[in-house]
Amino acid sequence: MKVPIEFTEEHVEENSPHDKQIYRDFLRSGEPFRSIMENNPWLMPPDIKKPLEWGTGRYWDTTVARKHDYWKDFDLPKATKDINQMRKDIKEWGFCLIEDAMSKKQCARFLDRLLEQAEGERLAGVDQPTPSGQYVNTLINKGEVFAQCIEQNPEAVQAGPVIEQIMDETLGKGWICHSFLSNGSDPGGYPQGLHIDQGPLLPWVTEEAPALFNSMYIPQDVNEKNGSTLVIPGSHNFFIKAGSGGKVGKLPPAVNLEAKAGTVMLFDGRMMHGTGVNRTKKQRFVATMSNVKAWTRTQENWVISVAPDILENASPKLLHRIGLQALTYGATIEGFGLGAAGRIGDQWGSIKQFRTAYDRGEYERVRELSVNSTPEDLNKKYTVREAVKKARESIKSK
Ligand SMILES: [Fe+2]
Repeated sequence: MKVPIEFTEEHVEENSPHDKQIYRDFLRSGEPFRSIMENNPWLMPPDIKKPLEWGTGRYWDTTVARKHDYWKDFDLPKATKDINQMRKDIKEWGFCLIEDAMSKKQCARFLDRLLEQAEGERLAGVDQPTPSGQYVNTLINKGEVFAQCIEQNPEAVQAGPVIEQIMDETLGKGWICHSFLSNGSDPGGYPQGLHIDQGPLLPWVTEEAPALFNSMYIPQDVNEKNGSTLVIPGSHNFFIKAGSGGKVGKLPPAVNLEAKAGTVMLFDGRMMHGTGVNRTKKQRFVATMSNVKAWTRTQENWVISVAPDILENASPKLLHRIGLQALTYGATIEGFGLGAAGRIGDQWGSIKQFRTAYDRGEYERVRELSVNSTPEDLNKKYTVREAVKKARESIKSK
């Protein structure tokens, strides 16, 4: 059979020069980072094959705001328990600091478990080093405290209700957790390149509101010496002003965050930040939990990674938060979840049952079927059939 010439690879290639391709200029513009690097060469990330440069004005060569020549007179966010102040700080500066978000006891529980885990992973040879420091990934499986944080349970994080509220306001209700991992800054490490966490969406900027919102758990004091996170306060506004595909001019300098153990920083997915340089002899950890809309592909592939016992004991809220509540436009399995609203605890869209069946080696997928299929094939215990049955029953019983 002859394929029409228009459908051949050669023809498609010949008829697809760069200037004919739709949206190419926008998608491949490299903006706004192209203009950011042109206008702010001090923001170029370091060459990690060379010793780190100091004294030449690079972004990591900085200090905390109150000691910084440029920033010391600005009224930058201070740790607060006042939700209205947090809202103001987020809008103006792209971040806020929640004072005592974890109580002393909660903070110690968090940090102890984290440090033990980091040490254990090194001993087991499963530690995950980066040029900045050791990462401890997939915290959900590594301590009850972390799973509780994902659902903002006040037992683990006393400011949970405040965090929930701000997330609802910034992302819209129904948001889910993108990932929860710990970022180490190791002595002798390199700074992270300054970035925005919703960078993968660029050149779309989402001017009206962020598409990702991050919460950073700070279980130990951080400052300019121990690799505290670098931030450019207010940088989200430069992105907003530039708009999708736009250019950014000169940016203000970066500062090291200064915060006490127990603080949680909330920050906009459009604010520039990155791990700082640790100039002490001790490892420093923070942990970041970013959050996104429920249809987004999450950074952590929770459906595979969450441990069976954690899954078994997870509350409906936690299941929802890790994306195990399907909805029309996300996480459906064999069509199960289409038409679901993605609400916490809905049987319609609950994908835990598929994972459980999978773990047992009992997940039965629907394959090729026809009028000629054998009775055995037609009557298999299809997981999706069981799921639909259960969902219908739950609707009837309401
Ligand atoms: Fe980041």
